[in-house]
Amino acid sequence: MNEILVTGATGNVGRQVVVELLATGTAVRALVRDPETAGLPGGVKVVGGDLSEPETLEEALKGTSTVFLVWPFLTTKGAPAVLETIARHAHRIVYLSSSGVDEDAERQTDPINQLHADMERLIEKSGLEWTVLRATTIASNARGWVEQIRTTHVVRGPDMAATAVVHERDIADVAVRVLTGDGYVGTKFVLTGPQVLSRAQQVHTIGEAIGRLVSFEKVPVQVAREQMLADGRPTALVEALLASVERRPASNLVTSTVEEITGAPARTFRAWAQEHAEEFR
Ligand SMILES: NC(=O)c1ccc[n+]([C@@H]2O[C@H](COP(=O)([O-])OP(=O)(O)OC[C@H]3O[C@@H](n4cnc5c(N)ncnc54)[C@H](OP(=O)(O)O)[C@@H]3O)[C@@H](O)[C@H]2O)c1
Repeated sequence: MNEILVTGATGNVGRQVVVELLATGTAVRALVRDPETAGLPGGVKVVGGDLSEPETLEEALKGTSTVFLVWPFLTTKGAPAVLETIARHAHRIVYLSSSGVDEDAERQTDPINQLHADMERLIEKSGLEWTVLRATTIASNARGWVEQIRTTHVVRGPDMAATAVVHERDIADVAVRVLTGDGYVGTKFVLTGPQVLSRAQQVHTIGEAIGRLVSFEKVPVQVAREQMLADGRPTALVEALLASVERRPASNLVTSTVEEITGAPARTFRAWAQEHAEEFR
């Protein structure tokens, strides 16, 4: 048995990884918390399990050789036990990390980059053959603006440093090559889109895709904090997100890694906005 287990399989990236692995004829399993609502394509074996409860992963891991791991938490609590459980079954892991991780820094700029740096260290020590995919801001984060764009044509929120937003399908394309191919072990790849974009530029691009003028209005961090807490978001998540907003430095980083690995140029945010235009109308 040489199946690949995809975690975060109902998420923006994981779902694409499942779809694209299936397209290559690979035997795929999807780890989901609720198999009833997963809505994954036929052909994938959907297995229930929770990354915060390592003992629930045994069933999903039986017979797998490789795991695509996303870590949807703000701390590494529980990660060593999850990695030990994975290593009892599989021999290879591909981890989705952040391009903001600075290899040389003692402390990272913010809690989210710190989490990924800490996860990378645990994975390096896990005994598994590892590959790390460090992604910039994922284009699908823009889905968080759907409601505002549909109803007001203005996106109000905290601003953050511009980055070369990467299409989730490019991350998935790279992940599939790395999960199914040899020669990527022990490597950290930085995945970016082709163009550095501010939030205002992303919002404007979505407006062009739907044929309406849509603008971005920067909200002070304290106001954003109050709004996010009032929306019921957990305090730790709000503080981590706002720390990213306040502390991440501007970066002009654009890599050619997507094209080098997949053979196709990285997709633009414009292409993403056109593909998803209906969601914003
Ligand atoms: N967003 C970015 O810009 C960015 C940039 C760099 C790296 N990343 C990393 O990429 C990861 C994936 O991004 P994404 O946009 O695909 O995330 P997403 O759409 O929010 O999906 C998160 C996934 O994690 C699953 N999940 C949540 N809690 C779980 C648990 N306790 N046990 C098992 N599965 C659980 C969710 O499944 P359920 O259906 O069970 O909820 C969902 O499939 C992020 O977690 C982050 O670490 C993100």
